[in-house]
Amino acid sequence: MELLKVDGISKIYGEGEAATKALDDVSFTVEKGEFVAIIGPSGSGKSTLLHIIGGVDRPSKGRVTIDGTSIYNLNENKLAIFRRRQIGLVYQFYNLIPVLDVEENITLPLLLDGRKVDKDYLEDVIRTLKLKDRLHHLPNQLSGGQQQRVSIGRALINHPALLLADEPTGNLDSKNSAEIVELLKLSNKKYGQTLIVITHDERIALQADRMITLTDGHILKDERIRKSGHVGFAEDGR
Ligand SMILES: Nc1ncnc2c1ncn2[C@@H]1O[C@H](COP(=O)(O)OP(=O)(O)OP(=O)(O)O)[C@@H](O)[C@H]1O
Ligand SMILES: [Mg+2]
Repeated sequence: MELLKVDGISKIYGEGEAATKALDDVSFTVEKGEFVAIIGPSGSGKSTLLHIIGGVDRPSKGRVTIDGTSIYNLNENKLAIFRRRQIGLVYQFYNLIPVLDVEENITLPLLLDGRKVDKDYLEDVIRTLKLKDRLHHLPNQLSGGQQQRVSIGRALINHPALLLADEPTGNLDSKNSAEIVELLKLSNKKYGQTLIVITHDERIALQADRMITLTDGHILKDERIRKSGHVGFAEDGR
C-alpha cells in the first residue's frame, strides 16, 4: 500500500538574482512500512525535501499525498492538525522544551491536540526507549543520546503515519548513534512505522530498505537494498 506520494515537487527559495532552486521536479512513492534513507552532498536539497514531505515548508510546485490526503490542499489550520497527528519529526538538535521533563516532552503533542494519553502505549514507548528512570529529568539533565531518545518518543506518541528524521545521529558519538538507529529500526518494525531518514553516514544508509540519492535538487539514484520488513509488502522485488 502506498503511504507517501511525492509528485513533481520543486522548491525555489528567494526571488530574481537571489533565487535558489533547492528542488527540481522530484517524484517518488513510498510504501507503508518502508525504511528509506536519503543521502547526497551538502546543499543537495535533502532537508528541504523532508520539510516539504513533513508539511513544514510549502513547495513552489507539485503535490505531496500522505495516506490519501493531498496535504497542501489543506488550509493552514487543518495542515497543522494533520502534521501533529500523522507526522513525527526528529532533528539533529533534539528541539526539546527545556522547562518540561522527559514525560511531559514526550506527551506534549497529545496535550496540544487535547487528547488523552494512552498509558499502556506511553509505557511501552518509554520502556523501548529505556527512559524509565529518567521520566522526571529536564532535558539539560540528560545526555545527548537520551535527549534524542526523548525526541523519538515525542515523534512516536501520536502513532504518526510517517516518521521523518533529519541527521538524527549527526550530533552523537558512534555508540549512541548505533543505538538511535536501532530504535528507529525497531519503531519501523514494531509499530509498522514508515521511516525516512536523512543521513551522511553510509553505515546507517545501508541499513535501510532503500536508498535515494539527491544531487542538485533532483534524484540521482533510487536503489532498493532489501525487501521492506513490513508484513504484507508486495513481494514483487520492486
Ligand atoms: N530558507 C532558505 N532560503 C534560501 N535558500 C535556502 C533556504 N533553505 C535552503 N536553501 C538552499 O537550498 C539548497 C538546499 O538546501 P538543504 O538545506 O535542503 O540542503 P541539504 O541537502 O539538507 O544540505 P546539508 O547536508 O548541508 O544539510 C541549498 O543551496 C541551500 O542554500
Ligand atoms: Mg540538511
